[in-house]
Amino acid sequence: MSLLITGGTGYIGSHTVVELLKLDQDIIIADNLSNSSTVVLDRIKEITDKSVTFIKADICDFASLDAIFEQNDIEAVIHFAGLKAVGESNQIPLNYYQNNVAGSVTLFQVMAKHNVKKLVFSSSATVYGENNVSPLDESMPTSAINPYGQTKLMVENILFDLAKSDSEWSIACLRYFNPIGAHDSGLIGEHPNGIPNNLLPYVAQVAVGRLAQLQVFGDDYDTVDGTGVRDYIHVVDLALGHVKALQKLDDIEGCQPINIGTGNGTSVLEIVNTFKDISGKDIPYTIVPRRAGDIATVYADASVANNLLDWKATRDLTEMITDTWRWQSKNPNGFES
Ligand code: NAD
Ligand code: WQD
Repeated sequence: MSLLITGGTGYIGSHTVVELLKLDQDIIIADNLSNSSTVVLDRIKEITDKSVTFIKADICDFASLDAIFEQNDIEAVIHFAGLKAVGESNQIPLNYYQNNVAGSVTLFQVMAKHNVKKLVFSSSATVYGENNVSPLDESMPTSAINPYGQTKLMVENILFDLAKSDSEWSIACLRYFNPIGAHDSGLIGEHPNGIPNNLLPYVAQVAVGRLAQLQVFGDDYDTVDGTGVRDYIHVVDLALGHVKALQKLDDIEGCQPINIGTGNGTSVLEIVNTFKDISGKDIPYTIVPRRAGDIATVYADASVANNLLDWKATRDLTEMITDTWRWQSKNPNGFES
């Protein structure tokens, strides 16, 4: 039996594949390479000494997915494939709805056709919108303030309806907080195309000299130092959350939303100062006005993951930033180098 990993050559997918290979899982990756490279496959082999089956396929293409399910004995799917840039989703919303929503529906149709009804889905803390007060828990109302967030919320709602319609489905909707860090080998990590939108890749590229300075979006929030607070989680802890979710899928009835975060908040300036200490590099920054759509503080109540999945994040901020820095300094041009 195999696991199908959509988006498995991406940032979170590749780290999850490494953890699954350690458990001798048979893995098929389906990815259209729109935001990743096949170099990742060599790096995964170097880390684990194991290979995966890679199929270049788009989740919007029913026939390609159908062929994968025809030709393989797939028992469950981890669905990472998707577009993820909030700002870009405001510019090209139709691409986001097509890729993330229509693509997911296509995948679920093919799964249903082949009677594969075990799924782990990459959702996001973005579904908590802007009106809930942290710590955020799964019982809170959901909403979205940009097209990217809408796509995650829509797919979650589709999955709730699907599970209601057919009790054979077991679905874990993992709501990630802010994934950062990299594998401690320094061989895989995050390398966004163009100028990064997220804080950690931006800071890392300033430290390595690719970008001149960081813009800190606002220092007048009601937080420890006025800058935004987020729940940063090491990507390997997040990967291990997927392993646990897969192992517990049989105990999950219907569609279960699960926060994957540490439960701790860290400010932008705490990130900058820790990065500076660990890398020994200067991180010049200027304070600029708040970014539209940002809120002051976001962190998880991770008790559902602790209890239901028997999962807890174990890597602290020092480890997250040490691993980010190792990856960035060894691979200043990402997988191109
Ligand atoms: P990523 O861009 O590194 O990985 C996504 C992968 O999906 C890429 O390899 C890309 O080539 C592939 N892909 C995109 N569209 C596809 C399609 N139509 N068909 C096949 N493959 C396709 O992103 P990531 O950070 O690893 O994120 C993985 C998932 O987690 C995404 O669904 C994202 O929305 C979600 N998520 C990410 C974060 C984050 O901050 N990184 C936070 C919450 C949720
Ligand atoms: C973190 C903090 C910024 C960049 C986003 C998505 C969310 C999820 C994770 C996918 C905030 C500040 C940032 C910069 C800054 N992704 N910042 N200067 O906005 O919490 O979450 O990624 O699901 O949906 O919205 O993450 O890394 O962009 O920002 O000051 O150049 O860093 O204001 O306080 P965010 P982020």
